[in-house]
Amino acid sequence: MPTLINDVDLPVVTTDLSLSEAERREQLHRLAHDHWIAKGELGYVITSHDDCASMLRDRRWFSALSLIAGMQNYESEEWSSRPQRQSILSTEGEDHQRIRRIVSPAFTPKSADRLRPFMRAVVNELLDPICEAGHSEFVADVCEPYPIPIICELLGAPREDWELFSRLAVDIFRVFNGNLAEDAPAIIAAGDEMDAYMLNLIAERRSEPRDDLLSDLISAEEEGDRLSTDELLSMANAILLAGTDTTRNQLACAVALFAQHPEQFELLRSDKNLASQAVEEVMRYLGAVRGTGRYASEEIVYRDFIFPRGTLIFPSFVAANHDAEKFHEPLVFDITREGTVPHLTFGSGIHYCLGAFLARAELQEAFSVIANRLPNLKLDGEITWKPLQNGIWGPEHLPIGFDRGH
Ligand code: HEM
Repeated sequence: MPTLINDVDLPVVTTDLSLSEAERREQLHRLAHDHWIAKGELGYVITSHDDCASMLRDRRWFSALSLIAGMQNYESEEWSSRPQRQSILSTEGEDHQRIRRIVSPAFTPKSADRLRPFMRAVVNELLDPICEAGHSEFVADVCEPYPIPIICELLGAPREDWELFSRLAVDIFRVFNGNLAEDAPAIIAAGDEMDAYMLNLIAERRSEPRDDLLSDLISAEEEGDRLSTDELLSMANAILLAGTDTTRNQLACAVALFAQHPEQFELLRSDKNLASQAVEEVMRYLGAVRGTGRYASEEIVYRDFIFPRGTLIFPSFVAANHDAEKFHEPLVFDITREGTVPHLTFGSGIHYCLGAFLARAELQEAFSVIANRLPNLKLDGEITWKPLQNGIWGPEHLPIGFDRGH
């Protein structure tokens, strides 16, 4: 007989802000050893790899992203009536499947690979001045600027507009700050400016397609069905939102780890073929996306528990990625690790990261260039980290030193 989840005596896990990241990871790892589910501050935290994956694959659990405004008790006509609010990230059911079917063919390994030379050029350009200096505040110098040119190139926006995208991204990202009452006007204004810009670009590509993602998305068609102009605008917005802060934080997490584990960095330097394994291990060990949220769209019975409609769950990627059932010695950072199940930092199920090939390519290219050009990488001061409750997380400041002139 299934039991109502609210009546079950579960361990409680809170976001103790005094904990360091390593302490938090160990806490979740220990918790996952004994319990697959715990009570968190806003809902239930899911800790085991199997349960995170199967709940994310169960389509009755809807993305909690659509609840952000409601969770903050924020409502305004202007906010909810924008057509771009229907983002792929928060749409569910038939509507989501349709968009995903149309756009997926544009996000192939091949389309990510065609940007690799560009990615290398961008990293090299960012490293040139710091390689002269022999030290860097790596977040500001490299991680922050790195993804913007890639997203611009992907969408087909020229170099002179990198600055504009960078500025718009700052305001559009305020959606994650938890303060919509104050931030909504700036977010809406930046969204409108981006839409106006993209409308021009879409018109240009419609009349003259090029070898870029925007042209692919315009021509993408599934059984005669195409994306409308509003849907194209919404996709461009989602790509900027989902593809920028994630990549820059993941790169910063990686370089922080390499500076803390010089023997692993030497392994990568001695064999650049390890770049792709290194990306997977970095994302497992220190993922920039620490978890996600879902709510029950109807009453759901799972593992003999009843989750009433509206119940919030938070699959913890940190806990799942350190699940001892799945990873041998999970608390050890080892870029030569092989033959494991995939980490969950790109999510799982129907919302699995659409940009995963692209993100992997961005990180692999950055790792190879960094391994070549920053010998003797080490910390040159204390790393400060963003608050652990941030949805997208990583170092705030990352001072590093290395041998000059490479
Ligand atoms: C290291 C970098 C990245 C990480 C860790 C990451 C992680 C994720 C995760 C966890 C999800 C699923 C969220 C959920 O289930 O609630 C997701 C979805 C998504 N990501 Fe990424 N992402 C990264 C880079 C990118 C890039 C570069 C792009 C852009 C091309 C991108 C585009 C998307 C899109 C469009 C979705 C929504 C897919 C859907 O809802 O069907 N991501 N990402």
